[in-house]
Amino acid sequence: MPATDGNTGTEVKETMSLLKIHLILVCIWLGLVLVETVIEFAGPHSNENLQRVARYHSLVDGLFELPIVLAVLGTGVTLAWRIWPLENLMLVKVTAGLIAIAANLYCATLVFVRRWSVSNEQTLARLSWHVRFTWIAVPFGLCALWIGLRRSMG
Ligand code: HEM
Repeated sequence: MPATDGNTGTEVKETMSLLKIHLILVCIWLGLVLVETVIEFAGPHSNENLQRVARYHSLVDGLFELPIVLAVLGTGVTLAWRIWPLENLMLVKVTAGLIAIAANLYCATLVFVRRWSVSNEQTLARLSWHVRFTWIAVPFGLCALWIGLRRSMG
């Protein structure tokens, strides 16, 4: 569709800029995941520290990460819509990206529930473990990143 416009090139430019926006959003998301990794994994797992972690992480998720992840999803779906039907490698990339996003939304839900359970020591410890466990989805995000970058570099 847009990429086949050979006369004006307008649609192609539009697609290119959406690609750039998608890439920039992905990079911001990556940065936020790194910040959260430090917040979650650094420091002792004492109740006091877990309470602090629960507050900081929910702040980062609510203010920055959720809007960014939804924007990655929105731009990704639009790009996929434009080049539909997807070739096999792109199908793998989109699936990996969707798994990473789903895991992130699940993680955000846990983070908010944990934020409101900070007074319960056992629940706090249990939910903190579950939050850390969702990092298992990071390789899927890296896989989407790798395929996306590989494609964009030709
Ligand atoms: C972890 C999440 C994701 C990462 C790390 C990621 C990464 C990337 C990268 C690096 C590119 C290349 C950008 C460029 O050429 O400048 C790209 C392109 C693209 N992404 Fe994603 N993406 C993610 C999620 C998604 C999702 C969820 C979808 C669809 C539902 C999607 C669909 C696309 C499409 C269709 C393209 C353009 C392919 C093309 O026209 O060559 N992405 N992505």
